[in-house]
Amino acid sequence: MKRILLLGLAAVLVVVGGLGVVAVVVYSRADVSTVGELSFSQRLRIPPQLEPRADANGRRLFDLTLQQGRAELLPGTRADTWGVNGPYLGPTLRASRGDRLLMRVRNDLPETTTLHWHGMHLPAEADGGPHQMIEPGERWQPSWTVDQPAATLWYHPHLHGDTEDHVYRGVAGMFILDDPRSRALALPDDYGVDDIPVILQDPRLSDDGALEFSQGAISPIGRLGDETLVNGTSNPYLPVSSRRVRLRLLNASTARIYDVGFDDSRELLLIGTDGGLLEAPRPVRRVLLSPGERAEVVAEFRPGERAVLRSFEPDLGADFFNERFSGGDDSFDLLEVRAGRELPPAPAVPDRLSGERASLDPSESVRTRRFELSGSSSINGRSMDLGRIDEVVTSDTTEVWEVENGSDIPHSFHPHDVRFRVLEYAGGPPPAEASGLQDTVFVPPHETVRLVARFEDYTDPNVPYMFHCHVLDHEDQGMMGQLVVVEPGQEPGSPPSHEAASD
Ligand code: C2O
Ligand code: CU
Ligand code: CU
Repeated sequence: MKRILLLGLAAVLVVVGGLGVVAVVVYSRADVSTVGELSFSQRLRIPPQLEPRADANGRRLFDLTLQQGRAELLPGTRADTWGVNGPYLGPTLRASRGDRLLMRVRNDLPETTTLHWHGMHLPAEADGGPHQMIEPGERWQPSWTVDQPAATLWYHPHLHGDTEDHVYRGVAGMFILDDPRSRALALPDDYGVDDIPVILQDPRLSDDGALEFSQGAISPIGRLGDETLVNGTSNPYLPVSSRRVRLRLLNASTARIYDVGFDDSRELLLIGTDGGLLEAPRPVRRVLLSPGERAEVVAEFRPGERAVLRSFEPDLGADFFNERFSGGDDSFDLLEVRAGRELPPAPAVPDRLSGERASLDPSESVRTRRFELSGSSSINGRSMDLGRIDEVVTSDTTEVWEVENGSDIPHSFHPHDVRFRVLEYAGGPPPAEASGLQDTVFVPPHETVRLVARFEDYTDPNVPYMFHCHVLDHEDQGMMGQLVVVEPGQEPGSPPSHEAASD
C-alpha cells in the first residue's frame, strides 16, 4: 500500500515537474528581440498618395479596390497578401477640412469585409463599421464632408469576428487630413521627403516569406509577430536630406504595443496625437503606442549620421506572466535613418501648433458613463451583439466616461466618430502621447482612464457607432459595443439586420 502511494506521489511529481519545465520553456521562448540584428538593406517604401478625382458634384472621389495580391515582404520571396489598389497595404489618402468626399470602395476580395475610417468624424452609415458590409464583387460608396482639425488617421476593415485577420493580411492605409492652420505652420510637410509615414506591423513570416497565422501557445492578446515591417518593408532604411524630419507613426499591428524612440534616446518633439496637433510641442524620448494609435514626432539629425528607430520593451503594467506573453519583454529595431552629408537648415518647430481648443469641458458633462473591460471578450459584462444597442448618447452633450480595465491583461479603448481628451490616466495626468485629442487610449491592467467626449452633428437612432478594445483579437471576440447618437428626446431604434448577408 505504502509503495503504491509512493509510486503515485512520484508519478504526480513527474507530471508537475514536467509541466513546470514546459512552462519555463514556453516562458523563456516567449520574448522576442531584433535589436542589433537587422541589416537595413531595403529602402523604405513610401505608400503613394492617391490623387482624388472631382465628381460632377464637386466632391473629391477616391477609388479604392480591396484586392488579393502577392507581395515581397521578405526580399526575394512572395507572400499571398491583401491590399488596397495594390498587393499589400494601401495608398495614403489626403483631404482638407471642408472637402466633400466620395469614397468608391470595391471589394475584390474573396470574403465579405468593410472599410472603416478610423478617427473620422462622420455619419454612422459612412463609418465602415461592421454593419456596412461589402460583399465580394460589390461596391460601397460613402460620402461625407471633412470637418475636423488636421490629423493623421487611417483606414482598415472592421468585419465583426474577422478584423484581425483582414488587417493582418494587409488591408490598411494612412489618411492624412490638413487644415488651413496646419498648412501655414512651419512644420516638415513634404510627403515622403521630410514628412514620412511610418506604418508599424509585426507579422510572423515563414522562411519563404509567407504570412503565418499561428499564435503562441499562450497569447492573452492574440497574434504577436516576431519581426517588424515599416510600410510593408522589412529591414528598412530611410535616406533623409533635411535636418528636421516629421515621422507620422501609426501602429497598424493587430496586438503589438510599441514604445518607440531612437537607439540613442535622443529628444524628439511630439507635435501631434490621434486627433491632431498638440497646442504646443512636447519633448519626449519615447512614445508608447497601442494598436490603432498615432503620434507625430519631429526628429533632428546631424549630417552624415545614422540613427535607428527602435521599439523598446514597453511597460504594459501587467503581472510578470502577462507582461511577457503580451509583448512587454520584446524589443525591435524598426528603421535606420541615414542622414545625408549636407543637410540644409530647416526652420525650428513653432512653439504654438494648434489654435483650436476643442470644447471639451468636463464641467459641462451631463452624465458619467462607465465601461468595464473584463476578460478578453466583453465590456460591462456583455459581449458584442450586432442586434443590440448598448449606449444611447444625446447629440451635442458633453459626457465623462470612465473606462476601467478590470482584467490582468492589456486593453485599449476606441470610440468611433469622436476625439476625446483624457482627464485622468491611472490616477494621474495622461502621459505626453495621450495628452492631446485622442481617439484610442491604452488602458493598463487594473487601471482606469477618465475621458471627456462630445458627440456632435450626426444623429441616427438605428445605425450605431462602435466602441471597443483595439487589440483586434479582443474586438473580434466581442470586446465591443454599439452606441447610437440621437436628437434630444429621440428614442433609439434598432440596428440594421443582416439576414441576407450572413453566411
Ligand atoms: Cu480602428 Cu473600430 O477601429
Ligand atoms: Cu475606429
Ligand atoms: Cu483588449
